[in-house]
Amino acid sequence: MSPTMIAPVVVEENNRYQKGVKHLCDNGLTKVPTKYIWPEPDRPIFTKSDKLTKPKQNLKLPIIDFAELLGPNRSHVLRTIAEACETYGFFQVVNHGMGGDVSRNMIEVCKKFFELPYEERSKYMTSDMSAPVRYGTSFNQNKDNVFCWRDFLKLYAHPLPDYLPYWPSSPSDFRSLAATYATETREMFEMMVKAIMESLEIDGDDNEAAKELKEGSQMVVVNCYPPCPEPELTLGMPPHSDYGFLTLLLQDDVEGLQILYRDEWVTIDPIPGSFVINVGDHLEIFSNGRYKSVLHRVLVNSTKPRISVASLHSFPLTSVVKPSPKLIDEHNQPQYMDTDFATFLQYISTREPKWKNFLESRKIHI
Ligand code: OGA
Ligand code: NI
Repeated sequence: MSPTMIAPVVVEENNRYQKGVKHLCDNGLTKVPTKYIWPEPDRPIFTKSDKLTKPKQNLKLPIIDFAELLGPNRSHVLRTIAEACETYGFFQVVNHGMGGDVSRNMIEVCKKFFELPYEERSKYMTSDMSAPVRYGTSFNQNKDNVFCWRDFLKLYAHPLPDYLPYWPSSPSDFRSLAATYATETREMFEMMVKAIMESLEIDGDDNEAAKELKEGSQMVVVNCYPPCPEPELTLGMPPHSDYGFLTLLLQDDVEGLQILYRDEWVTIDPIPGSFVINVGDHLEIFSNGRYKSVLHRVLVNSTKPRISVASLHSFPLTSVVKPSPKLIDEHNQPQYMDTDFATFLQYISTREPKWKNFLESRKIHI
């Protein structure tokens, strides 16, 4: 067969996957298409015997009660945060100040968005990484060889008035509910930065980085993981670290998030109403390696759709990311090169976005 005869079929196949997993599933599916089948070592369950001998282990992450931060237990809570960031790169937060209705409304309206006809959702499909709104599928759908079982909606969120007019106008209450959500997560982030700075023994108020973060970038990423007929063959998200300073993750009640802990993938138990907070690459650099930006991935399941909302916070796009000068002295040399944010973003747009290659490349090997 000549290439000209194959091409239309290939193009049609690719188009089918470019429209995303939700679209694929809405048309009925009993098997995972080859495009989504991960090489065996990357799959969630390696072998049958693994499955039989290893009991299912969920990890109970340290739980931070944010209300306690404001009381007499503050120093104890700060130590728990520091230990969590050093050991797991992750912790969960309860009593974080966001009303239950704000987070529930956000999950509900996001569900409704992904239930809109494909034609409505696809209005926001673009490969332009700097677009204020970007709807898409997989991790990097223009680069990924194997696709992930995930569709997403990414919203730039700061400064909000600059971006809000571009956010989806349907469902009709999407903008107002998502705007409230973005604003309240930002407030939570600011409190978190204060606590993190203090846990690193850097004064929270008189600190250049804290000031920059106050005006920093925010992106809200809504992830949609439809039920998958063969969840053992694919991943919702591949192993990755988050590039920013902190990620504040809201999940519905369906589990799926796993983190790499002592070389094993462990599932995080969702706690209703809580947030999962994780250290991003920028915080690992800023803390000069003390806090860890840990690899995590997402599994899918055969029965329940899952929605998560990640709010990624970092420095302004014009900033240089570097170890805090307050953590550097003659005994503590910088472990990472100074890196401007734009270089990070460029890397993200061009890579096969897995593992922690970029952060590794910024390490100074003495
Ligand atoms: C992310 C992420 C985890 C999840 O959006 O970067 O890791 O559970 N999400 O969806
Ligand atoms: Ni992530």
